[in-house]
Amino acid sequence: MIKIKKIGVLTSGGDAPGMNAAIRAVVRTGINNNLEVIGIISGYKGLIEGDFRQMDTTSVSNIIQRGGTILKTARSEKFKTKEGMETAFQNLKKQGIDALIVIGGDGTFTGAYEFDDIYNFPVIGLPGTIDNDLYGTDFTIGYDTAINTVVEAADKIRDTAYSHDRLFIIEVMGRDAGFIALRAGIAAGAEDILIPETITYIDDLLHKLEHDWRKNKTSGIIIVAEGDDSGGAFEVIKKINEKFDYFKTRVTILGHIQRGGSPSCMDRVLASTLGYESVKALLKGKRGVMIGKIHKDIVFTPFEKAIKHNQEINKSLLEMARVLSL
Ligand code: F6P
Repeated sequence: MIKIKKIGVLTSGGDAPGMNAAIRAVVRTGINNNLEVIGIISGYKGLIEGDFRQMDTTSVSNIIQRGGTILKTARSEKFKTKEGMETAFQNLKKQGIDALIVIGGDGTFTGAYEFDDIYNFPVIGLPGTIDNDLYGTDFTIGYDTAINTVVEAADKIRDTAYSHDRLFIIEVMGRDAGFIALRAGIAAGAEDILIPETITYIDDLLHKLEHDWRKNKTSGIIIVAEGDDSGGAFEVIKKINEKFDYFKTRVTILGHIQRGGSPSCMDRVLASTLGYESVKALLKGKRGVMIGKIHKDIVFTPFEKAIKHNQEINKSLLEMARVLSL
């Protein structure tokens, strides 16, 4: 086992609220353990370009409450190439960095897995994505804040939907996963929730709407994940308008507001815990794993497993949401 004296930390992929809290925890735990900590700017892109910053305890002051990531983030195509990885490795060697902590999602861990595999370089990953679609943790850093952002927006939309007797289709993030749509949809009392993990039968939705409105519903909201097989909010609304002429419909695409904002208490605590535990684990010789939290336990999942599996969505919650929205 190599003696770790200097570590690098980076954020990669889509940003998520709580990433700063994780960076702060990594930096301060590292320094507390007599490590030198280097911040790498813009993820793997910065690793290739040698964009490194020395971190100290004050460089992470006053960031626990801030959304985004002070280290910036990017999706690097170059890191997927042999040359890109080689340059990154040489830069790490030049800097004397012995290990890396990477904060991101599936793409980030795929890069980390290959890098560790090819260069035998210790890496630990922290789950940072609003999508909550990672295997090996109950929740990812950023998810709680994102669903609260969606619920706050949906509540506001419900006010105006009620006032105007309108049906709103709200599109939320989730290119491949419906975790945001499902939880936020339940909390917002959505009339229906459409997610990529299940086939969307538009006729069933139309039937439900007709039934609801016959029972004197005059307004409502439907939450659709952007990756749903219906094609998204505009496709859904087209189908509704083709079939009925009495619905007054509107679309709201929530977009990137879901990725920003001050992290919730849950996200700050999760990010702080995983950041702290990841440095301790690295010092004990752990590597090639994503750190997560399942129930109350800190769990390490090999990158290979984390990227091959998806977190299972609880489909029975969809049925519950439908019953509760009658
Ligand atoms: O971070 C994940 C995610 O939010 C997905 O849900 C979404 O489809 C994607 O990022 C959007 O990414 P971009 O910022 O590149 O548009």
